[in-house]
Amino acid sequence: MNNDIEKILFDQNKLDVKMNQIATKLNKKYEGEQPIVVPVLNGAMIFASDLIKKLNFKLTIDPIKASSYEGTNSTGKVKIVQDIKSDVKNRPVIFIEDIIDTGRTLFSLTKVMKKRGASSVEVVTMLDKPAARVVDFHADYCCFDAPNNFLVGYGLDYNGLYRNLPYVGVLKHEVYAY
Ligand code: IMP
Ligand code: MG
Repeated sequence: MNNDIEKILFDQNKLDVKMNQIATKLNKKYEGEQPIVVPVLNGAMIFASDLIKKLNFKLTIDPIKASSYEGTNSTGKVKIVQDIKSDVKNRPVIFIEDIIDTGRTLFSLTKVMKKRGASSVEVVTMLDKPAARVVDFHADYCCFDAPNNFLVGYGLDYNGLYRNLPYVGVLKHEVYAY
C-alpha cells in the first residue's frame, strides 16, 4: 500500500499540532453550549474521531453521508445519502470534513442546516484545496492547504482504499486512470 504513495504531505505529528490548535479555539468558543458535531462520512471519520477526543464541551455526534464523487472526478451533484438524526433547530452545528475541493458538498450541507434552523453553522476541515474551488465556500477552521493533486490517507480514499494510511499523501499517477 505504501508503495502506491508518491509523497507524504502531512503525518500524524503535523496533524496533531493543528488539531490541538483548532480544538483550543473550539473549546473556547463552544464552552457552555451543546453543539451537534456532524462528521461527513466516510472521509472525515479518522480526522473527526481524533479531533472530537480533544473537545471538552458537551456535544452530540451525528454523522451525515453525502456523495458528490465517483473515482477522481466530481460529478457536481451533492446527495444526502444518510441524514443526521438530530433536530438542529436552535442548536449550533459543527461540520467536520476531510477535504474541501470544489466546495459543493459543504456549500450545500451548510445551507441545509441553516434552513432547518440551526443557530449557527461552522465547518472544520482537515484539508483545503483552494485551487479546485468552483463555488464560493470557506471553512472556518482548516489544518492545511493542500496542492491540487489526488490525495489519500487519514480517511481520504481512492475508490474505497487507502483510508487507513496514518498520514495524508499524494497517490502515484500510475495507480489511477482518469
Ligand atoms: P467537494 O464537494 O468538491 O468540496 O468535495 C469534497 C469531497 O470530495 C471530500 O469530502 C472528499 O470525499 C472528496 N475529495 C476531494 N478531493 C479529494 C482527494 O484529493 N482525495 C480523496 N477524496 C477527495
Ligand atoms: Mg468527504
